[in-house]
Amino acid sequence: MGVIFCGVDYRWLGEVKNAMNNEKCCDLSVLDLVPFGQTGAESIFYALRLSAPNWPAWQPGQFVMVRPHSFGYEIPWARPLGICHMTTQHLICFFQVLGRGTKRLSQLRPGEQVAVWGPLGNGFAIEKDRPTLLLAGGMGIVPFVGYVHRHPQPWNVSMVFGHRAAVDCYPVDSINERIPLDSLRETVPGDLDNLIFTLQERIHDCADQDGLVLACGPRPFLRTVHRFAISFGARAQLSLENQMACGVGACLGCVTKTSDKWADKRHKDGFVQVCTKGPVFWADQIQF
Ligand SMILES: Cc1cc2nc3c(=O)[nH]c(=O)nc-3n(C[C@H](O)[C@H](O)[C@H](O)COP(=O)(O)OP(=O)(O)OC[C@H]3O[C@@H](n4cnc5c(N)ncnc54)[C@H](O)[C@@H]3O)c2cc1C
Ligand code: FES
Repeated sequence: MGVIFCGVDYRWLGEVKNAMNNEKCCDLSVLDLVPFGQTGAESIFYALRLSAPNWPAWQPGQFVMVRPHSFGYEIPWARPLGICHMTTQHLICFFQVLGRGTKRLSQLRPGEQVAVWGPLGNGFAIEKDRPTLLLAGGMGIVPFVGYVHRHPQPWNVSMVFGHRAAVDCYPVDSINERIPLDSLRETVPGDLDNLIFTLQERIHDCADQDGLVLACGPRPFLRTVHRFAISFGARAQLSLENQMACGVGACLGCVTKTSDKWADKRHKDGFVQVCTKGPVFWADQIQF
């Protein structure tokens, strides 16, 4: 069978096909698509509610690959989205329009079909008796919606949320009703210094109490959290949002570099797939 084309090895497409054939891949119907913040053509933030996939279990921090049938031949690869919340009635994802894939997602209509595979990757640790500090940057808030609802002792959990758009563009309400949330909006350059200072202080405090720090957000945000977590010896997990194509460990498009603390000897100081070994990693086990 011809698997090399124009010098590129396409054998990994078989892995994607296997994953898509198993019970984790399904076609779901769009129930609704709700804009957040600005409405109409201006909106770039959406909650997408899909019919329930009937997966037996999921953990906050896991994600799904979504590929609307309307992508057709124009957009070959699915896009990864965090699981915001899932019940027996529906699966909710929340996304920001960045490029053509998410633009197309924002044009979905009720009843349209979307191929979805998941729940993929690992989830965040839950340590119910310890203080837990959630650090979210922008769309990094998504997995924490499920996290705060799943946490058995939410009074031990608090959040710092750094963001650029107005706070009502994000799914903060369902978090705010369960835990204290400090929202720090960045509109002028000085706001970024304030966010970095706040991250430093809160990670330091959490490390002093032997708490757990959990972070999700864009790479510069995670780099800052990583730096403070390592320097204060905080126990921290970071969820990486590397670009992905297959989501099932086959294409190697999403790899990240491990440190010498990585448990598997074969990959110490080497690269591992974010989609299958993560997306959540202990801070001391990866390099930025
Ligand atoms: C595990 C995981 C969970 C995610 N969860 C969410 C979520 O819940 N909500 C959400 O809105 N987004 C989430 N993302 C990011 C989302 O997948 C990307 O924004 C999306 O794939 C962009 O597709 P696009 O076709 O619109 O943009 P593209 O046309 O592919 O790219 C547009 C621009 O965005 C950049 N870009 C693409 N992907 C990423 C990325 N992962 N991180 C940073 N920049 C990127 C590209 O370099 C380019 O500049 C997640 C990513 C991962 C890996
Ligand atoms: S996205 Fe293909 S290996 Fe991770």
